[in-house]
Amino acid sequence: MASIDRSDPVILGHVLAEHRDLFNLMHSVQTAFAAAGPPTPERRALVLESLHMLRDHLGDHFSQEEQGGFLEEAMTRVPRLSSAVRSIVAQHPALLAELDRVIEALGIVTAGAESWPRAAHAFEGFAAHMAAHERCENAVVQEGYNEDLGLVE
Ligand SMILES: [Fe+2]
Ligand SMILES: [Fe+2]
Repeated sequence: MASIDRSDPVILGHVLAEHRDLFNLMHSVQTAFAAAGPPTPERRALVLESLHMLRDHLGDHFSQEEQGGFLEEAMTRVPRLSSAVRSIVAQHPALLAELDRVIEALGIVTAGAESWPRAAHAFEGFAAHMAAHERCENAVVQEGYNEDLGLVE
C-alpha cells in the first residue's frame, strides 16, 4: 500500500489514462456525428457503433471507480473529500442513463431525419455533463493526493 504522504503514480497514471481513453471515444462519436452528408443508414450505424463502444467502456470505468481505487483512496487520505466522492459516484447512473437515451433514440429505425440533429445535440449535452464529472474527479484526485496535476484551473 502506498504511504499516506506520497502519491501513488500507478493509480494517478491509471486515472489519467482512463480519462484520456474516454475522451478519445467521445471524440470519435463527435467526429462521426459531424461528418458531412445526410444521415444515411450507414452513418447512423457508424455513430451507433461508436456510441456502443463508449457505453461499454464507460460502464466498466464507472464500476471500477465504484469498487475502490483512486476515489476511495483520496477519501482515506483526506476524509473531508467524502461528500464530494459520494456525489461523484451518485452521478454515474444518471450519466449512463443519459447516454442510453441517446443510443435508444438513434437506434429507432423508423425515426425521421430530424432525429439526427436532435441526437447530436443530446450527445453534446451528455459530453458537457461528462466533462464536468471528470473535472470533479480530477479535483478530488488533485486534492486527495496533494498533487498538482495541472488538471484544475
Ligand atoms: Fe466517475
Ligand atoms: Fe472517471
